[in-house]
Amino acid sequence: MNQPTSYNDRIVKQFAIMTVVWGVAGMLVGVLIAAQLAWPILNFDIPWLTYGRLRPLHTNAVIFAFGGSALFATSYYIVQRTCGVRLVADWLAGFTFWGWQCVILLAAVTLPLGITSSKEYAELEWPIDILITLVWVAYAVVFFGTIMKRKIPHIYVANWFFGGFILTIAVLHVVNSAALPVSLFKSYSAYAGVQDAMVQWWYGHNAVGFFLTAGFLGIMYYFIPKQANRPIYSYRLSVVHFWALVFTYIWAGPHHLHYTALPDWAQSLGMVFSVILLAPSWGGMINGIMTLSGAWEKLRTDPILKFMIVSVSFYGMSTFEGPMMSIKTVNALSHYTDWTIGHVHAGALGWVGFISIGAMYYLIPRLFNRELYSLKLVETHFWVATIGIVLYITAMWVSGVMQGLMWRAINTDGTLTYSFIESVQAMHPYYIVRFLGGFLYLLGMLIMAYNVIRTIWGAPSPAAVADTAQPVH
Ligand code: HEM
Ligand code: HEM
Repeated sequence: MNQPTSYNDRIVKQFAIMTVVWGVAGMLVGVLIAAQLAWPILNFDIPWLTYGRLRPLHTNAVIFAFGGSALFATSYYIVQRTCGVRLVADWLAGFTFWGWQCVILLAAVTLPLGITSSKEYAELEWPIDILITLVWVAYAVVFFGTIMKRKIPHIYVANWFFGGFILTIAVLHVVNSAALPVSLFKSYSAYAGVQDAMVQWWYGHNAVGFFLTAGFLGIMYYFIPKQANRPIYSYRLSVVHFWALVFTYIWAGPHHLHYTALPDWAQSLGMVFSVILLAPSWGGMINGIMTLSGAWEKLRTDPILKFMIVSVSFYGMSTFEGPMMSIKTVNALSHYTDWTIGHVHAGALGWVGFISIGAMYYLIPRLFNRELYSLKLVETHFWVATIGIVLYITAMWVSGVMQGLMWRAINTDGTLTYSFIESVQAMHPYYIVRFLGGFLYLLGMLIMAYNVIRTIWGAPSPAAVADTAQPVH
């Protein structure tokens, strides 16, 4: 392959560092709100420290700041390597970095102040929404511009996933955020009633499908073959995976609105597409894991690969659980309970978190031309975080099913067996276990931050491998 003169790795470094920084910050808030649920006194009666305001701060910080930075870093890195060219317009790429950080800081100020549109995962008010749109358009120009001037004719599958993610998020954001501003800090949704709910969950579910899934599959399809030094198990399957996934995901949103005023046919449609979604999701999971075939022994010695493969296993687990939860009769039990929270964090901590962490451990030494400070600490991080996830999600499963069963238990005379407060009391031990699990996951992130700082401070290493080639396929 022709070696291009230079890549724009400055932008990749910036986003990679911020992935670790926002990971620590967002999860710190996660641990705080987990503690508040166990010990409400930690709300301190200070409005901007209350659970209701910090919860959206947590979701925005982990999804858009941590996850978003990981997606920017990896997509910019991958698109250059797989197209054999430098990013178009360094200044525009720089704008995406500073613009995105600005969005995050504005979120960190406005959400605790209680300034919110109150749409889940789209809480930011209209001036920030406009800034997001500008950054996103710039991102699309840089990404697709780079693809257009590529020297390698084939567009590697990871870029399809990133491209699908960038385009879909643009459409979702613009449509769902349409609103009528009444002041600088307040706007009203352009939609009303059940239409508003449907647009919101069309957005919300595809934020999961495209922000938390498609982009991270792009990461999977590049970094697992790289770290394992094996070709993708089936390149053909990866292409089928892409088209089947993007086609199916977009219809599944109504499963968030079961048993609401949404027309019944729309709920059933959402359910059917969600169940179908199991197939492409598992096709992708099998493709990711089987990429290791013939090289399984690497899992014993390579903790970075462990992060990646366990991540894909959690992807498989949450994409099995999700279709089950979308079946109306199952959802009648799981909806509004901690089961949903357990499902979310199996995907968030296991899949999104682990694949991002694995990719950062791969990238950072190469970007800074250093030897990784300690592989042993990566191994420690892996085990601490894995135990953290297991504690978190098992606590939520048990408490979720228990909640659902307690709420629906009825005496022979038709009265409720349990009062609501009894179900809250029953949750308490599980909330403590979830707090401990979250704390361990955060501890893992702090170990990572230390390892990354020591790596960057270390001496330049001629042994550090510069990564220029395409993955084999
Ligand atoms: C085949 C794939 C999947 C399907 C069919 C699916 C289905 C579902 C269902 C039925 C719910 C509960 C809705 C409710 O009762 O309110 C849910 C919630 C959720 N899922 Fe999934 N899921 C899938 C994969 C994932 C993955 C991989 C992630 C994370 C990376 C994820 C993140 C979420 C989130 C954040 C929520 C909570 C939304 C909210 O109410 O705020 N899902 N999902
Ligand atoms: C140390 C790690 C973490 C802890 C302790 C934590 C804790 C929490 C807590 C306590 C909640 C509120 C649950 C409730 O309302 O009952 C929550 C919600 C949520 N978290 Fe986390 N979290 C962590 C990491 C993450 C990560 C890495 C992501 C995404 C990449 C994430 C995504 C979410 C989402 C989407 C919700 C909203 C779920 C829903 O509305 O159904 N969290 N988290």
